[in-house]
Amino acid sequence: MENTIRFFDTTLRDGEQSPGCSMNLSEKLEVARHLERLKVDVIEAGFAISSPGDFESVSRIAGEIKDCTVASLARTNEKDIDAAYDAIKHAVSPLIHTFISTSPVHMYYKLKMTADQVLEKTAAMVAYAAKKCPAIEFSAEDATRSEPEFLVKVFEAAIANGATVINVPDTVGYTTPEEYAAFIRYLKENIKNIGNTVISVHCHDDLGMAVANSLAAIGAGATQIEGTINGLGERAGNAALEEVVMALATRKDYFKASSRIDTTQIYRTSKLIYTIIGMPAPINKSIVGANAFAHESGIHQHGVLAERTTYEIMSPESIGLSKNKLVLGKHSGRHAFIDRITSLGYKLNDNDINRYFDEFKKLCDKKKNVNDDDIAAIITSELSSQDSLYKLNRFDVFTSNASRGTCVMSLEADGKILEDVALGDGPIDAAFNVIDKLIDAPAHSLEGYAIHSVSEGKDALGEVVVKIKACDKIVTGRGLSTNIIESSILAYLNGVNKILERRDKSAETGDV
Ligand code: KIV
Ligand code: ZN
Repeated sequence: MENTIRFFDTTLRDGEQSPGCSMNLSEKLEVARHLERLKVDVIEAGFAISSPGDFESVSRIAGEIKDCTVASLARTNEKDIDAAYDAIKHAVSPLIHTFISTSPVHMYYKLKMTADQVLEKTAAMVAYAAKKCPAIEFSAEDATRSEPEFLVKVFEAAIANGATVINVPDTVGYTTPEEYAAFIRYLKENIKNIGNTVISVHCHDDLGMAVANSLAAIGAGATQIEGTINGLGERAGNAALEEVVMALATRKDYFKASSRIDTTQIYRTSKLIYTIIGMPAPINKSIVGANAFAHESGIHQHGVLAERTTYEIMSPESIGLSKNKLVLGKHSGRHAFIDRITSLGYKLNDNDINRYFDEFKKLCDKKKNVNDDDIAAIITSELSSQDSLYKLNRFDVFTSNASRGTCVMSLEADGKILEDVALGDGPIDAAFNVIDKLIDAPAHSLEGYAIHSVSEGKDALGEVVVKIKACDKIVTGRGLSTNIIESSILAYLNGVNKILERRDKSAETGDV
């Protein structure tokens, strides 16, 4: 008999909370829309109590997404559960995900609670959450380092009080496939009231076994897999959902399991998320890396030409990678443009389409052929800078190999023009220095700068990604132009605008 596996995506919670992966509201909404098209079963949209920004994004996602359950994380206390419920209550299918640690080391050092207190708290808070919301997931944090007999009691209490899903996280990425499978089997056989409760697994990748552990758990009776796109997440990350999905699809003969995921949406969802966090996919990354379907050696190429399956166990088309890249150009009209963006997975309103179409037309004046990667880059760059206060008006740089760089710049904010000039080691340093002179932002430091071309050719768009640290958080700034000094300026300006947005949100709410 075939098992149906549910996919619980936590890219916007476990993924987004990891350093350098933070996203703004527009970016999170676009990720959620892509996840809906990918047809994950659950989108964990955030941790509503953690900040007003998180509350707002969970709430907006809950209001917009219709075809997936939307979850918010909550610790086992009333304030967290209230915030989680308030943020998701208008969702078509809301879920409160509440958790408490159950391992001796976590209970003693982190919670400073006894096992009996943890058991009591679980029962009381799951019951509290279940009075508000019909769907409750309960997670026993650090389950794989917990005493099995104690864990059985905790899960029994959670189920008795209304949990519809119990989650067995390998929080520190410690377990191994055989051990984890045996653990899941033990829980399934010993939790007396398990009934139809969904058993979920949530694996971290500290020892590189998150995907293998998740797959092993399926064989032992787990029917929900938690993970993130591209394996983002705390420390070494979570199980990469695209890898688990394609393992199930490719080895259906072995796993005998199916899901409702539309695998043809994998590539574009992965690409969107890599672009937003300003990181390219490692070229050898399973499923979505640039080399995942490339055949370099003569023997392999010969084999694939004779019969694709000699060296390819899945097709590029199955993850939505099309070999024939369509190009648009300056003669392409609005209809052709809308067709392209729709087939790339974006659902946009008229205002957005007008904005993106203008950007597309400007690009066509500078670049002969505009392909899918260029269009996706325009859209993600606009998402990233949508709510920016400071915009670039004009810049001039002077540089040579015999003198320091100079940059004169004018920015626009609230209809006012601000102008200044600064020197620097080179033109980019000078440009960043003017921005720092013009904008009164909280103290920050540049932690990373990278540039890459979005597509091929000398007229390619150059995308610059900067990582800026402010108040112990890393923000990602991105800038796009066929002029790489302009991309650098736009990226730095984007990062500084994000720091300001975060400061203003904290000031409004008293959040720290
Ligand atoms: O890794 C973990 O234990 C978690 C829980 C909150 C589910 O992310
Ligand atoms: Zn986790």
